[in-house]
Amino acid sequence: MDAMECISSRRSIRKFTNQPITKEIVKKIVQASSYAPSWKNTQTVRYCLILDTAKKREIAQNCVMDFKLNQNTIENAPALVVLSSVTMRSGYEKDGSFSTDKGMHWQSFDAGISAQTFCLAAHDLGLGTVIMGIFDEKKISEVISLPHDQQISALIAIGWPVESPNIPKRKTVDELLQIIE
Ligand SMILES: Cc1cc2nc3c(=O)[nH]c(=O)nc-3n(C[C@H](O)[C@H](O)[C@H](O)COP(=O)(O)O)c2cc1C
Repeated sequence: MDAMECISSRRSIRKFTNQPITKEIVKKIVQASSYAPSWKNTQTVRYCLILDTAKKREIAQNCVMDFKLNQNTIENAPALVVLSSVTMRSGYEKDGSFSTDKGMHWQSFDAGISAQTFCLAAHDLGLGTVIMGIFDEKKISEVISLPHDQQISALIAIGWPVESPNIPKRKTVDELLQIIE
């Protein structure tokens, strides 16, 4: 699949087969994600792969603010990735001050690029993913013993897709693009 096709045919997948996914395939995806750009090449994004069914169920039942869609997606997925970032690096100077007046903004920016790179790499290998933003950060941090110098940016459910959803309506290029010439 070429890059344009990979970008346009990726969809958020919330239903998966029972087939487990291997650590090896996730390592391959994380390897691809490591090529994502980041603030001054700080590479602050980390991935925690949860294959353990009991832990996954605990997150589904107690850590997604009772949001049914995410509960079902996580219960149904063979694996869940917690995407986190090491804090106080992206967008910061060495002395701990912010590099720009956008403050902490660049940490999330880096995490977003890595998340999409992860999802595209997974899609290229035939796996389905969905990025989830509705979760309880404090509770998940406890469940996975997240290091104190990290914050959670997103959850990504991953597995072999059993659905191929239509593309949710997109804005036109004319709505999105302003050209100054
Ligand atoms: C930052 C972010 C947070 C999201 N949070 C959720 C979520 O909590 N639950 C969910 O089912 N989908 C979530 N999504 C997926 C979006 O709903 C989805 O990307 C959008 O509807 C477009 O569909 P597509 O990904 O198939 O193109 C999230 C996506 C992003 C980028």
